[in-house]
Amino acid sequence: MKAIICLALALTLGLVGSPSLPSALAQDSQTINLPLPDRTGGAPLNEALNKRRSLRNFQATPLPLEQISQILWSAFGVNREAGKLRVIPTAHNRQDLLIFAAMANGVWLYEGEKNQLSLKLAGDFTTEFGGAPLTLVYAAPIRDGVIGGVHVGLAAQGVGLYCASAGLANLMKTTGVDILAGKLPLPVGYKIVVVHSIGQPAGNY
Ligand SMILES: Cc1cc2nc3c(=O)[nH]c(=O)nc-3n(C[C@H](O)[C@H](O)[C@H](O)COP(=O)(O)O)c2cc1C
Repeated sequence: MKAIICLALALTLGLVGSPSLPSALAQDSQTINLPLPDRTGGAPLNEALNKRRSLRNFQATPLPLEQISQILWSAFGVNREAGKLRVIPTAHNRQDLLIFAAMANGVWLYEGEKNQLSLKLAGDFTTEFGGAPLTLVYAAPIRDGVIGGVHVGLAAQGVGLYCASAGLANLMKTTGVDILAGKLPLPVGYKIVVVHSIGQPAGNY
């Protein structure tokens, strides 16, 4: 009897059910709710700046969703809920940068204001992106001249510093911009500016 009461209590509190179901699978297949990013910790800024570098060889091992969330938050996440303001500044607060995450399970748009990923293209492009399990594809409007590129640079530097802090390899490439050109649902006037591959380093950091 006592056991039945305990089970009923646990069910009521949501302690029993599918506790091992990864959050990525708990969604419909078109969206992934990202774990909340950690807004504290990491390496001190000067240490991360000192360690920042491009590393060109990646392990194919997928990154955990917590780390994917942290990487995307470093790029373009919300750091002030009031006004949905971001970790990077944008001209006139346009926030019109688009960041896609290309992984083995497709190409996903980062929606930082909802802390979620939204599937935009099926297919595994990780081989085309040099074997990295995650490649960020930055797209920006070109009508502004260089401003879109400035926004991409700001976002990419946040990622580079997070990677230095976490011991991850990262490499930005302009040579990879054609891989998904014409395949992503970009607004009129947008273009892919640069791609940014990330993964555990193959070899020493
Ligand atoms: C906008 C941009 C585009 C880049 N494009 C390429 C590229 O197409 N191919 C490549 O191998 N490296 C590319 N890189 C990486 C640079 O070669 C690298 O940052 C540079 O050699 C300095 O090395 P470090 O990042 O370790 O300081 C690019 C870097 C940036 C910032």
